[in-house]
Amino acid sequence: MSPILSFNNLEVSYGDEAVVRNVSFELNQGEILGIVGESGSGKSTLIKAAMGLLSKGGRVTSGDIIYEQNSLLTMSEKSLRRLRGKEIGMISQNASTTFCPIRTVGNQIFETLRAHGKISIKDARIKSLEIFDKLNFMNPDKVWDSYPFQLSGGMNQRVAVALAMLLEPKVILADEATSALDNISRNQVIMELVRLYDMGTSVIFVTHDIDIVDSICDKVLVLKNGEVKEYGPSKRVLSAPQSDYTKHLINCTRQLRGAGYGLIQENKV
Ligand SMILES: Nc1ncnc2c1ncn2[C@@H]1O[C@H](COP(=O)(O)OP(=O)(O)O)[C@@H](O)[C@H]1O
Ligand SMILES: [Mg+2]
Repeated sequence: MSPILSFNNLEVSYGDEAVVRNVSFELNQGEILGIVGESGSGKSTLIKAAMGLLSKGGRVTSGDIIYEQNSLLTMSEKSLRRLRGKEIGMISQNASTTFCPIRTVGNQIFETLRAHGKISIKDARIKSLEIFDKLNFMNPDKVWDSYPFQLSGGMNQRVAVALAMLLEPKVILADEATSALDNISRNQVIMELVRLYDMGTSVIFVTHDIDIVDSICDKVLVLKNGEVKEYGPSKRVLSAPQSDYTKHLINCTRQLRGAGYGLIQENKV
């Protein structure tokens, strides 16, 4: 079976500088791929390139990104817009900044659902409350009626996951979706992403947290300064890393654990 999403020898530049070089990897149907690497290694650039949302001055200078046998790079803006959210969803680090501050959560969910298909606000609400309930939100009705600023950062992230679920995309690109969260909210969001995976959605999970890779990812891509250092099944990469850089990342996490900063090892999802 061909992969649902593949990056082929991708190079992305800002101005004259290539910040991502010769990056290739594949996401198969129903797989969670972790992308790890320190700040500035090019993780967000990869995600943005796939969504056609590179910042000003950024462009793909070589290679291709293929989604279901079609190049995302030559697709019209109109087709890309149709794809975003509905086929390929994205969850970023601070979902609250992607929500409009002066409109209720419910209103924004309704707008998003309506942009991708005919639905009444009543049905949008029923569908949303079902998902909120499934995700064990304490007060589904209250969340629907809230403004984003009335919710915690963790709750905003969870709403972003719920919204992604409502659109039933084939692929979710989660860019540090849990990095700004406390441990409890983080574990909740991770478990919710795993539910998406259980629904058959393929997930790219960008993180600097090796423990998360260990817990939930089938494969991992290790990135440093825009280049792939290692790529393969996460169990193999984490138990027998080949590159010095991967060894270094794993050692850093172990040291933190040793110092009492264990992450989710007691609460594997
Ligand atoms: N809009 C931009 N203009 C110029 N350089 C950028 C821009 N965005 C990111 N970069 C550079 O590209 C590199 C990769 O950044 P990024 O993809 O955000 O890394 P990560 O998500 O891994 O932290 C960094 O060197 C960063 O400085
Ligand atoms: Mg980033």
